[in-house]
Amino acid sequence: MSFRIQPQPVARPNRCQLFGPGSRPAIFEKMAGSAADVINLDLEDSVAPDDKPEARRNVIQAIGDVDWGKKTLSVRINGLDSPYWYRDVVDLLEQASDRLDQIMIPKVGNAGDIYAVDALVTSIEAAMGRTKRIAFEVIIESAAGIAHVEEIAAASPRLQAMSLGAADFAASMGMQTTGIGGTQENYYMHREGQKYWSDPWHWAQAAIVAACRTHGVLPVDGPFGDFSDEEGFLAQARRSATLGMVGKWAIHPRQVALANEVFTPSEAAVTEAREILAAMEKAKAEGQGATVYKGRLVDIASIKQAEVIVKQAEMIAAG
Ligand code: COA
Ligand code: MG
Repeated sequence: MSFRIQPQPVARPNRCQLFGPGSRPAIFEKMAGSAADVINLDLEDSVAPDDKPEARRNVIQAIGDVDWGKKTLSVRINGLDSPYWYRDVVDLLEQASDRLDQIMIPKVGNAGDIYAVDALVTSIEAAMGRTKRIAFEVIIESAAGIAHVEEIAAASPRLQAMSLGAADFAASMGMQTTGIGGTQENYYMHREGQKYWSDPWHWAQAAIVAACRTHGVLPVDGPFGDFSDEEGFLAQARRSATLGMVGKWAIHPRQVALANEVFTPSEAAVTEAREILAAMEKAKAEGQGATVYKGRLVDIASIKQAEVIVKQAEMIAAG
């Protein structure tokens, strides 16, 4: 038990982050018109090396020109192991309008990676007289990233969100799969002639959620590559939501509604949470710390559980 109060993450909806390559400006307006809470314009792995300079120019122009509404607008820069990232940061911070909310740093391996980007961003913000402080989000997608996940979550007050990037993570870990998230054919238990599939992403997700909740960062599930498999996406997203994640990426527009559905608490869930709060209010008035709701125990911990759902619903309704 710690006497420290767990810090709250930023209060904004992050149910779906829709990605699009910076080298494909024809889809920017479509992204802006989508129902995603967060837009990620990509300069990294969906952009071929020769297209990096043009993608940067497209993105910088679109940040100012496109009407992004109330969405959180984020640009994924290139990794610190590449020759591109410093130019991404310099050009974005020097040239993009202050509609830009956030920079996503991929492939982070330790807190020093965030510190390096923070130093550069802080200096350019001061030099340019930018008054709106750019937020950060990161992707955990390597063995080093998951090994140092807690120091990464604590690395900067700019950090608002952390995603699991399944494909690069699998490669870095040496996992035998080419799938991007989801169920893996060979990851199963066997009993009495039956296969029972398990979830190979579970532990990494739980580690990310714990690090994020400790340091007031939003935990987010990353991409699900097979965009024709809606049931697979829903199953993955529901597991993430159950574990404490607040949203999931969409790498195709058809995944946006699915993510929004899963990460918006259902009316039934909100009603039940409110009933639990009411039952506990009544118990408290009667001097009790615990009571019975629909045949099961609810106590003071149940208040906190119910408040997670009610607060999430209220924040989404307000957003
Ligand atoms: N955001 C918004 N709209 C998109 C979109 C996106 N990411 N991807 C495709 N669309 C649009 C298409 O322009 C098309 O619009 P139209 O009906 O007006 O013609 C419609 O959605 C259907 O697109 P579809 O033909 O099914 O897909 P595609 O072959 O054009 O593109 C991908 C498929 C996967 C290449 C594309 O969705 C994509 O680039 N996704 C993002 C990849 C990415 O950013 N990866 C990095 C993070 S892992
Ligand atoms: Mg990646």
